[in-house]
Amino acid sequence: MIKRCLFPAAGYGTRFLPVTKAMPKEMLPILTKPLIQYGVEEAYEAGCIIMATITGRGKRAITDHFDISYELEHQIKGSDKEELLVEIRTLIKNCTFTYTRQNEMKGLGDAILKGRVLVGDSAPFAVILADDLCVNPDGDGVMTQMVKLYEKYRCSIVAIMEVPHDQVNKYGIIAGREVENGLYIIDDMVEKPDIDKAPSNLAIIGRYILTPDIFKIIENTPAGKNGELQITDALLTQAKKGMVLGYKFQGKRFDCGSLDGFVEATNYFYKNLQESKK
Ligand code: G1P
Repeated sequence: MIKRCLFPAAGYGTRFLPVTKAMPKEMLPILTKPLIQYGVEEAYEAGCIIMATITGRGKRAITDHFDISYELEHQIKGSDKEELLVEIRTLIKNCTFTYTRQNEMKGLGDAILKGRVLVGDSAPFAVILADDLCVNPDGDGVMTQMVKLYEKYRCSIVAIMEVPHDQVNKYGIIAGREVENGLYIIDDMVEKPDIDKAPSNLAIIGRYILTPDIFKIIENTPAGKNGELQITDALLTQAKKGMVLGYKFQGKRFDCGSLDGFVEATNYFYKNLQESKK
């Protein structure tokens, strides 16, 4: 039912300078796979086949990555290297990749609004922030879990997790009423609140399912935290008009927008690789 997934990927990745000077941060590798490919695989597992990326200047490597490289295919044909391309070939074969540019950095809300031309106004869509790398070794991926919930509740859903109280100012924070184990009907949402003003320690992580009425709401949302158009603010309006759910997902999230999270993810995948060879 949810066929389209948006990947906001216009940010500069300044925390990873100088590597992100000429290379998109979404192309940073965790082992041999770029961050954004993990996100696209998660969306594909959840049933999405249209992968819509909001890019910016200097992001061409993303477009090339999700396209056939005829020279390379020719070079490695028949060699043992072919198996290294199995996953990316599957994505290229079965998905359509579309792109538009956000030419000014005006916040995640604005980036999502730019994606309207790609995902349309008529169906719910997923949003994945590739910096937040999510895994669930015990079952469904996080987006698959959220799509299943959408099928039941038919409203916007954000993935949430508990974070230490002194870190609430790095996230969108929600407050709500727990209706099922780990599922909250949201009644408040604040983008990066001061530590002493946060309504809880339930932080939004980069997985959303949005119903398309969100676009009109974003258009009418004023700039918020840091002078940027915040999706958190638009979602609060949507929550007040109807219902938005916060879902404590099953699995693990790595904050690959930070050096610590990036190294942690690398070690996690490397350990898994070593174990799979035993
Ligand atoms: C964005 C959102 C924030 C959310 C976070 C998750 O912030 O604005 O609400 O908690 O992603 O990673 P960013 O990290 O892009 O500043």
